[in-house]
Amino acid sequence: MVKCGIIGCGVIAPTHIEGYRKLDNAEVVYVCDLIPERVNAIGDKYGIEKRCTDYHQLLADPEVQLVSVCTDHASHAQIVRDVLNAGKHVVCEKSAARVTEDVAVMLDAAKAHPELVASGIFQHRFETHNRVLRDMLNSGKFGKLLAVNLNFCCRRTNEYYIKDAWRGTQAGEGGGVLINQAIHHLDQLRYLFGDIEAITAKTANLTHQGVIEVEDTAFFIIEFVSGLNAVVMATNSSVRNWNSRLMVEGEKASLFYENEKCTSVEAETPELAKEIENALADEREKATVAGKSYYGSGHTGQLFDIVNAVENKTAPYVSLEDACMSSVFVLAVYESAKSGRRVKIADLI
Ligand SMILES: NC(=O)c1ccc[n+]([C@@H]2O[C@H](COP(=O)([O-])OP(=O)(O)OC[C@H]3O[C@@H](n4cnc5c(N)ncnc54)[C@H](O)[C@@H]3O)[C@@H](O)[C@H]2O)c1
Repeated sequence: MVKCGIIGCGVIAPTHIEGYRKLDNAEVVYVCDLIPERVNAIGDKYGIEKRCTDYHQLLADPEVQLVSVCTDHASHAQIVRDVLNAGKHVVCEKSAARVTEDVAVMLDAAKAHPELVASGIFQHRFETHNRVLRDMLNSGKFGKLLAVNLNFCCRRTNEYYIKDAWRGTQAGEGGGVLINQAIHHLDQLRYLFGDIEAITAKTANLTHQGVIEVEDTAFFIIEFVSGLNAVVMATNSSVRNWNSRLMVEGEKASLFYENEKCTSVEAETPELAKEIENALADEREKATVAGKSYYGSGHTGQLFDIVNAVENKTAPYVSLEDACMSSVFVLAVYESAKSGRRVKIADLI
């Protein structure tokens, strides 16, 4: 049985707690938040006795083996480093990093503790359809890939930003729509199409002027190491609550994937189109733990993977380094938008 602690008892914490509770080999024994009312509300709801407002107390408890870091972006690096230095395994919510210095702090600590599991949440990698699509792309089912287009929109109001002091600030959140909402889909691009070479971008604040310091909208071109190119539009100024559309053009097949559901396939033969459609027919599983429906069902699968990595002393499916690279991808978009230049990922790390 792996004993777990949660640092940060806000919006995402119940998704972690309920995810762990679905596993036979994990138990949440300690919760922590700076705000006593939040830690007590969660502790009472889930019957967790050990509680604190200073996470160093949680880290001093020998019973805790694995810690979920569920705090705001700015605090991730320091907390992850302290968790590892306390000799405990760690999983950090997205976006692991908010500036490149955060990446160095976390990865130095992870390298200093190779005996510990260090992972970052990207739960959609644990949804079946994404794995099936990745396998088909890698096995050449679509032929040579020619072009990719991702459009993502959601709605984040001024009230959403005003509610929590860290949101919409450079220092607290590190960015806007890209580093918080669209990052799931940007990570999906890295997951499906591999490492990124360079970014050329433009960002804007279209509907949150005077409220946020960061972007609510972005347009950019991605050059993948493979030579494939993608065009991305992302905004949280939409009147739609949440929508993503991915188009994949391959020499043999063309796919439309909307809200993680395959909505259209055309291929060089009807048989190939049917085969791809059937393989992706298993649309996104409904969320099985607390959280919004678009969080998907992946948290439980990812926590299962991490708990098993702790028990079996194996590597997690998503390493902290890999998760940090999706943060670096976002930071490259910001750097390009700021400088007006094409930015190579290698220049940021
Ligand atoms: N994977 C997903 O689908 C998903 C969904 C929502 C949020 N998130 C991520 O989860 C993280 C938290 O987001 P949220 O929406 O729950 O934020 P939130 O503001 O609702 O909660 C964060 C909590 O952390 C606490 N906190 C901050 N610093 C702390 C410290 N040093 N010690 C103890 N507690 C501390 C705050 O008091 C707050 O209660 C962010 O990284 C966010 O991007 C991920």
